[in-house]
Amino acid sequence: MRIDILTVVPELLESPFNHSILKRAKDKGLAEIYIHNIRDWATDKHKRVDDYAFSKGAGMVMMVEPIDKAISELKAQRSYDEIIFLTPDAAKFTQQDANQLSMKGNLMILCGHYKGIDQRVRDFLVTREFSIGDYVLTGGELAAAIISDAIVRLLPGVLSDETSALTDSFQDGLLTPPVYTRPAEYKGWKVPEILLSGNDQLIDDWKMEQAIERTRRIRPDLLAHD
Ligand code: ADE
Repeated sequence: MRIDILTVVPELLESPFNHSILKRAKDKGLAEIYIHNIRDWATDKHKRVDDYAFSKGAGMVMMVEPIDKAISELKAQRSYDEIIFLTPDAAKFTQQDANQLSMKGNLMILCGHYKGIDQRVRDFLVTREFSIGDYVLTGGELAAAIISDAIVRLLPGVLSDETSALTDSFQDGLLTPPVYTRPAEYKGWKVPEILLSGNDQLIDDWKMEQAIERTRRIRPDLLAHD
């Protein structure tokens, strides 16, 4: 899979892609991630990528032209399955979206900044829009790192068997059950007896009960629609 990310602050994305699982995916050749600075497509001598909004009080807005030029240049080199724009005023990104996007070949992610982006970018260039949650970040860069992580870790070969994505929270519509490791007792804090029983069937039943109980308590909305 190839992911191209368009941003005005490429520095913000250096670290997330050079560590841990995302780095491993890149080193193994399973994911190629390219960060592009939208300013490289700015047309005036000050390299401006934003301008005043036509409506008063709306602050600075990202201009259509540099973004159109950046997207056109990339699209001339390969075809993209989706051109994703990250913004708080969009549908919330879910595990299901991550699953679907992990089956694609080429994704482009556009990070918003300033007060907003010229609506024509959204109307004519972007094919999908996501928010990562009901709060406002300074820009889409951290959101881009988050959705790229959620997608790339699902690519076959990125995770080892022990960390398989199939047992993640949300994959079966439930939160994961609690997990423990040695020692079985620490400062009098005990690991549930059943996990020490060696009975796989009982342990699986316990894990399912815990997953349901946790989901009901913390995220009842996940159970509501069934
Ligand atoms: N940009 C700013 N806030 C955001 C959010 N919540 N999700 C995605 N992109 C954003």
